[in-house]
Amino acid sequence: MTSSYTVAHTRRQILEIIYYSDCSDTADWLLAKTDIRPKVAIICGSGLGGLADLLDNKKVFPYNKIPRFPHSTVQGHKGQLVFGELNGKQCVCMQGRFHFYEGYNIATVTYPVRVFFLLGIETLIVTNAAGGLSSKFKVGDIMLIKDHINIPGFAGQNPLCGRNEERFGVRFPCMSDAYDRDFVRMARETAQELGCDSFLQEGVYCMLAGPSYETIAECRVLQKLRADAVGMSTVPEVVVARHCGMRVFGLSLITNKVVSDYNSTERVNHEEVLETTRMRTKDLQNIVSNLVTKM
Ligand code: HPA
Repeated sequence: MTSSYTVAHTRRQILEIIYYSDCSDTADWLLAKTDIRPKVAIICGSGLGGLADLLDNKKVFPYNKIPRFPHSTVQGHKGQLVFGELNGKQCVCMQGRFHFYEGYNIATVTYPVRVFFLLGIETLIVTNAAGGLSSKFKVGDIMLIKDHINIPGFAGQNPLCGRNEERFGVRFPCMSDAYDRDFVRMARETAQELGCDSFLQEGVYCMLAGPSYETIAECRVLQKLRADAVGMSTVPEVVVARHCGMRVFGLSLITNKVVSDYNSTERVNHEEVLETTRMRTKDLQNIVSNLVTKM
């Protein structure tokens, strides 16, 4: 007799297998629609989609026109895949990412990264807006991500949970080298060359699911965990990229300082986050576009 457990289990396994063929259908469709063969993919965070506008010889695919691709809902995100050349180097940019807090499951959030892998991407660049936890950080700083803390992962929301798809990567991928140290060094040099070193930082990014911002007690916990910045994205994509063997480089724009003092009357809000992003967007774009040419 077949138990309901067996049915559910089999159904899940089938869904996981379909997931691979969905990703490869999407990748094949894109490969048929463009001659561009990028090795670098860039995920543009909230308000940072301007990077994609810098591409030459663009080929643009709105997410809702790409077979099996999820759709974006968040404000400040466009929702399209842009292929083109950044300083002569072929790239693909995600203008708008998928967040767990939008209600997507973690497999959907990371779907584009798997498609990137099947497109032949070798390097993933991730950018995001983040709240500053470190007392050394100021609003408008750019943090090179040297490591992350995967809080949703602690709670079982790791995109690699479930049957392992060997065609993507191994069952237990190493994460102690998640963020490529050569890229961090190159980015530091690039920022220096561009005169951006006065607002350049380096640190640990911590992901929470969101969408509510952190309480004061939560900020204090994260500071005790030695996280330097907090946000609601990036980590699932990085875990999947590392699973597929991509090299990863990440940047956080510190759009606000978190409130960790009960006497403070400051309150974080989305408008402040977008305003700081607008102020620093050109510098961030400069660092990324210069770095890409060196990769
Ligand atoms: N917390 C979480 N996510 C964020 C923040 C923050 O303070 N700022 C920008 N994204």
